[in-house]
Amino acid sequence: MKTFAFINQKGGVGKTTVAINLARALSLKGLRVLVVDFDPQANAGSGLGVRVSKTKSIYQAIQEGNCEPYIKEVLPNLFVLPSSIDLVGLEVELVKYPNREYVLKELLSKSSFNSKALTEFFDFVFIDSPPSLSLITINILCASEGVMIPLQCEYYALEGLSLLIRTIRGVKKNLNPDLVLFGLVLTMYDKRNRLSQEIASEAKKHFKWIIFDTVIPRTVRVSEAASFGKSVIDYEKNNQASQAFLKLADEFLDRVRSKTQASLVNKV
Ligand SMILES: Nc1ncnc2c1ncn2[C@@H]1O[C@H](COP(=O)(O)OP(=O)(O)OP(=O)(O)O)[C@@H](O)[C@H]1O
Ligand SMILES: [Mg+2]
Repeated sequence: MKTFAFINQKGGVGKTTVAINLARALSLKGLRVLVVDFDPQANAGSGLGVRVSKTKSIYQAIQEGNCEPYIKEVLPNLFVLPSSIDLVGLEVELVKYPNREYVLKELLSKSSFNSKALTEFFDFVFIDSPPSLSLITINILCASEGVMIPLQCEYYALEGLSLLIRTIRGVKKNLNPDLVLFGLVLTMYDKRNRLSQEIASEAKKHFKWIIFDTVIPRTVRVSEAASFGKSVIDYEKNNQASQAFLKLADEFLDRVRSKTQASLVNKV
C-alpha cells in the first residue's frame, strides 16, 4: 500500500499537519515520500516551505497530464507537488471531464519521476485534501489505496464521521474497490483538558480496530513550525509533538507491513 488520502470534511482538524509531519517522519526513516497538495488553500506546500506559485502547481500538471516538472524536493527523501488557488476552478472544470472522478488517479498513474513510475520511485504518496466532500475529495479517494482520518480531540469530533465513513464505503463500492479505511489519528490532544480526554477515550472505544495508539498532543510549536515552512520535527526535534509524529510513523509502518492488520482494516 502506497497512496494515502488524508481526509476529513471538517476544517482545521489537522489533515495537513498530520500529512506533512508523518511524511517528514517517514522520510527521516529513509523512505521516499511525495506529498500531493490537492487543496486550493495550498497549506501542505507552504507548510513544507514551498513558495506557492500560480504557475507551478498541480493545476498545471493536470492541464499538461504530467506531474514531473512540478514536483519539488524539499528535504532529502521528501517531495511536494504543490497546489495553488487555481484549484478552486478545477472543481467546476472537472464536471466536463469524461472520467471526472479519476482525473487525479490518471495524472498520478501516467506521470513518471526520474524515469520511473511515481509509485515505483516513491515509497509513499500522501494526498492532502480540502475540508469538503466534493468532486475534488472523490478524486482523492479514487486515487488512493488507504484513507487516514485525523480527528481533533474537541467536541463534535465524532460528528460527521459517519457521513465520511459512508462516503468512503460508497466510493469503495462504486468507484474504487481497492480503497480501505486505514486509520484514525487523534490530534490536538490536551492532557489537561477533561473534554480532550473524554473525546480520546470515546473514539478509542468506538474505533478500537482502526485508531492509532499514538495521539498527537496540542502544542503551539506545531503552528509556529508551519509558519516558518517547517515540519515540527525540523523546528524542534525534542518537542512532544515531534516525538509523537516519529512514533506514529513507526506504528504506521507496522500497520502497512502487517498482513493481519491489512485484512482487519479491510472491514470498511
Ligand atoms: N498538534 C497540534 N497542536 C497545535 N496546533 C495544531 C496541531 N495540529 C494542527 N494545529 C494547528 O491547527 C490548525 C489547523 O490544522 P491543519 O491546517 O493541519 O488542519 P486541516 O484539517 O488541514 O485544515 P483545513 O481543513 O483548513 O485544510 C493549524 O493552524 C495548525 O497549525
Ligand atoms: Mg489542510
